[in-house]
Amino acid sequence: MGLKDSNFIKACYGRNDGPVPIWIMRQAGRYLPEYQAVREKVTFLELCRTPDLIAEVVKQPIDRFDLDAAILFSDILTILEPMGVKVGFPEGGPEIEAPITGPDDINRLIDFDIEAEMPYVMNGVKKIKEILPDKPLIGFAGSPFTVACYLIQGKGSKNFDFAKKFIHKYPSAARRLIDFLSVITARYLKAQVDAGADAVQLFESWGGILSREDFKTMSIDASNKIFGTLASAEAPRILFVNNIAPYLDMIKDVDCEAVGIDYRTSLADAARSLPGKAVQGNLDPAVLFGSVEHVREKTSRLLDSIDDLSRLIFNLGHGIMVETPIESVYAMVEEVHNYRR
Ligand code: CP3
Repeated sequence: MGLKDSNFIKACYGRNDGPVPIWIMRQAGRYLPEYQAVREKVTFLELCRTPDLIAEVVKQPIDRFDLDAAILFSDILTILEPMGVKVGFPEGGPEIEAPITGPDDINRLIDFDIEAEMPYVMNGVKKIKEILPDKPLIGFAGSPFTVACYLIQGKGSKNFDFAKKFIHKYPSAARRLIDFLSVITARYLKAQVDAGADAVQLFESWGGILSREDFKTMSIDASNKIFGTLASAEAPRILFVNNIAPYLDMIKDVDCEAVGIDYRTSLADAARSLPGKAVQGNLDPAVLFGSVEHVREKTSRLLDSIDDLSRLIFNLGHGIMVETPIESVYAMVEEVHNYRR
């Protein structure tokens, strides 16, 4: 079977007539004991730089749950190192050594050649395709604004207040930073597709803190620029926006095939607001901490709410949480795969 005929790829184009496909954001990770076993031997960054290990952890959730798509194992912040920005991943989230505090700091960001500086990512993609030839593989990157949030804040935050202030204190520098990151991100996703990725997802995890006006210039325009360069790549383009509801009318016109919806937003409303696009989501990751019956009930109710299943990709409405009970994941996947109208 060619991957173009997989339920996942067909759903991206709104043409699926088989069971609803499902994958899980952050599907390779610490809720899996077999992932933790790998992490006991190597640090997170070593793992991200070792193609054989990348492929091994990508395969883990596929083997367990028979998910309909694999996703590259890396992080949205791995592109910072070759820009000359040191990033660490201590317990509790990423940390940037010298955050951007003003316009001059942008000048020290290095423009770099993706294939030369990040061969482990593209070799990871090739290795995954070798061991999982029949699974669609999703490549990914962070959106320019989300990456800028970490660059400016220096670490995780609830509201990325430094980044929000930066946009208004230094509007032209902010634009320059977003443009710089857009060019690199477009190249990065193209390199992943050239190496074998069958689809790409852009994670706009923090755009949801922006006013609508700022979302347009900082997020929508950048997404269009990046996706525009991939238009001829024949790999469907997915935009995930965390806290998407205030922006749905703008996202309707983004140059992409599918849109990932966060768990706060009504999936049915989003599907109605995005005619002609596939929707992906959006079970609340916290649901998986309920009983197996509760998980099945919430999963089937979400499926019931969607009129047009041909353009639905089931997923969580954000990343799966650490300590998620594995039985819940089996129950959710089975419920989705067995669902019929
Ligand atoms: O989805 C997948 O399975 C692929 C791998 C993946 C990781 N990070 C691995 C990871 C993906 C797609 C990401 C994206 C990512 N990283 C996002 C966007 C998605 C989202 O959550 O909104 C963001 C904001 C980051 C930044 C990041 N990286 C944070 C905040 C953290 C710490 C919190 C956490 O989940 O641990 C990381 C570290 C990270 N990235 C881990 C993994 C598996 C944990 C590292 C470990 O093994 O100790």
